[in-house]
Amino acid sequence: MADLSNTLDAFWMPFTANRQFKKAPRMMVSAKGMHYTSDDGRKILDGAAGLWCVNAGHCRQEIAQAIAREAERLDYSPAFQIGHPNAFRLANELAAILPHPMDRIFFVNSGSEAVETALKIAIAYHQARGEGRRTRLIGREKGYHGVNFGGISVGGMGPNRKSFGPLLTGVDHIRHTYSRQDMAFSRGQPEWGAHLADDLERLVLLHDASTIAALIVEPMAGSAGVIIPPKGYLERLREICDAHGILLIFDEVITGFGRTGASFGAQKFGVVPDLMTLAKGLTNGAVPMGAVAARRQIYDAFMDAPEGTIELFHGYTYSSHPLAVAAALATLGIYRDDGIFERVAELAPYWEDAVHSLRDLPTVIDIRNIGLVAGIELEPIEGKPAARAFGIFLDCFHERDLLIRTTGDILALSPPLILEKEHIDQMVGTLGDAIKAAA
Ligand SMILES: Cc1ncc(COP(=O)(O)O)c(C=O)c1O
Repeated sequence: MADLSNTLDAFWMPFTANRQFKKAPRMMVSAKGMHYTSDDGRKILDGAAGLWCVNAGHCRQEIAQAIAREAERLDYSPAFQIGHPNAFRLANELAAILPHPMDRIFFVNSGSEAVETALKIAIAYHQARGEGRRTRLIGREKGYHGVNFGGISVGGMGPNRKSFGPLLTGVDHIRHTYSRQDMAFSRGQPEWGAHLADDLERLVLLHDASTIAALIVEPMAGSAGVIIPPKGYLERLREICDAHGILLIFDEVITGFGRTGASFGAQKFGVVPDLMTLAKGLTNGAVPMGAVAARRQIYDAFMDAPEGTIELFHGYTYSSHPLAVAAALATLGIYRDDGIFERVAELAPYWEDAVHSLRDLPTVIDIRNIGLVAGIELEPIEGKPAARAFGIFLDCFHERDLLIRTTGDILALSPPLILEKEHIDQMVGTLGDAIKAAA
């Protein structure tokens, strides 16, 4: 048998240009605080919080110790018909920071699973209340809701959908909220665009409200390139959903846990959904975990089933896994004790000024920001979409010791929320140099 121990061939990497990567690999071997260390010994400033998840900074001792302790004490406990006390404690702690009345929590293992779970709960909720015709799911163009079939069906990013067949039936999409000519270089929420929410009325007319179970949107679209909701837009979506009995699902996998300057996007934008998906920052990325938060009356609707029956035929072997729960409890403790969410709100104006200082650089056509996240959109190279941004990503990684994310020709920054002003200066200065070099 061939000895594969020293080649990169066997690992089929996710969302990666495998052949290109394997010719010039980018490897991380350790991390601490704001930095990764690469296999060639460089300290790389993390401008992406890993993948939008390491909100409290890397390798926090409190989290590492909590995981290690739990691995020795309770490695696994069955998730169905059996519980363990910390899972209930975690649900209570989450309920305490979620917007009222979202205080019923279902645990899963990733953002994608959270999305599938929320979509299934939405449909089953209507069925439990005798409105079984409400099965249609509405997403939004440019939406990202993970990679499972429900998520890509309601998702709105073409490349993530096109290779996978007809997807779920009974799905439609409202239009996305981005218009460069109307909102370029907005600081925070754009003034223009609340009316785009009325597109939901178009689908209500088309399909009839009685067939629609839920609308799912990211409060701020992250993966499609940091698209900030226009002022009044989410409020209007809420009104339309209420008027037609449609559940509103916020996918807060990125916007949860402080990223926008409040605990959750729902609080930042002042709109409370019916269901919310969570993952990433829930465990600071240290152990895979996700969750769905539901308004209490949604949970209660399921509790009308006869006592002794299983109310929701759904769950995962690793729902509320003890190690993930331990990591999440320790993470929430750090967010609380270190005042991380408040810190984001304090730093956000400095961040905003810093990222908008890149405005006049060549090829920059838009800059968007909220909390501690920013998207910098570049003029594509003719005939080579995404090449300019990816070239900058490579240059930043290999030559400038900075990790960023790119989507198309958009550079995304979403650093750990523990960063200091010096890190902001370094990050933005480095990125500015890289943008100029690529122009
Ligand atoms: C809004 C949103 N939903 C869902 C997901 C999927 O999460 P996961 O990759 O943990 O399945 C992501 C991941 O980036 C996301 O940004």
